[in-house]
Amino acid sequence: MNLKIAVLPGDGIGPEISRQGVKVLDAVAEKFGHKFDYSTALVGAAAIEATGNPFPKDTLQVCRESDAVFFSSVGDPKYDNNPDSKVRPEQGLLAMRKQLGLFANIRPIDTFDCLLHKSPLKSEIVKGADFICIRELTGGMYFGEKHEEDDKAYDINFYTRKEIERILRVAYKYALQRKKHVTVVDKANVLASSRLWRKVAMEISMEYANVTTDFMFVDNASMKIIQDPRFFDVIVTENTFGDILTDEASVITGSMGLLPSASTGESTPVFEPIHGSWPQAAGQNIANPVAQILSGAMMLEYLGLDKEGKAIREAVDQSLEHEVRTPDIQATGAPYYGTEEVGQWIADYIRKH
Ligand code: IPM
Ligand code: MN
Repeated sequence: MNLKIAVLPGDGIGPEISRQGVKVLDAVAEKFGHKFDYSTALVGAAAIEATGNPFPKDTLQVCRESDAVFFSSVGDPKYDNNPDSKVRPEQGLLAMRKQLGLFANIRPIDTFDCLLHKSPLKSEIVKGADFICIRELTGGMYFGEKHEEDDKAYDINFYTRKEIERILRVAYKYALQRKKHVTVVDKANVLASSRLWRKVAMEISMEYANVTTDFMFVDNASMKIIQDPRFFDVIVTENTFGDILTDEASVITGSMGLLPSASTGESTPVFEPIHGSWPQAAGQNIANPVAQILSGAMMLEYLGLDKEGKAIREAVDQSLEHEVRTPDIQATGAPYYGTEEVGQWIADYIRKH
């Protein structure tokens, strides 16, 4: 298969993990006889420096013309510490989501048995947890009307029935392939927007009689995620709640550095690690490339290359088993491997097996 892949390395550790992700994709292409054509484009602070725009038109064009976007991370402390800066790297990510119509963010929360001791939760609570968060990504407070004055400000949490319906259908599609259990997370006891979510979800759930649907308030859900994560199969929720809950959910697995995600919708899908740009570690060869590498697996699976995705997952599992790991997840006393070495080991494993 010939695939056109837009590579957006971004900021901080982005470029170095991106290189490992591409290295692993190249190993897959070689082994399975595919041809992957990469076009690298600017995003985030790197794009601001070069063009003044965190998501330049050229980058949008490259994304639109590709089969998938392989994204790394954006963010730079230079902008975080300046509340007056007119343009921020994160705006590049938001612009990309909006302009590509990426309304569904899919974040699988998967645990690795050999890393359970790294979880802040007791192993017996987290062992076997395996769920997926479906976060609405182009609506709600992130994109609703905003107003800022010196002494007052607001962000409107606006949702339409159509936006709620389409994200729910994504959640049910995943549930049908999994344990057939959807948890709709809202705050319907307080928020009007959540009451619309709940109303629409009750209607849609009727069409999926073989899927169990339950409803949970977001405060309760945030508690349940740490008390009993195995309860969940598919969580579906609005943009802001999804942002918060997925950070919480991602750390219970032991390291954020392991989790990939997908954002899909109307145009080219984007695959990226859940973690951010970790600027303090940039260029030091210590960042964990596994989330980026697994984003490649998710990307190939999404494009129908199941055995190729599986080959990446198998190689990652083996790297963890053999303790070829970066410092964030290394076993006590075992030597640390660098970003580059972990990527190389995984690529070599794929070529050899
Ligand atoms: C995420 C990030 C972004 C978000 C930021 C960087 C704008 O936290 O992808 O979860 O809030 O959506
Ligand atoms: Mn977030």
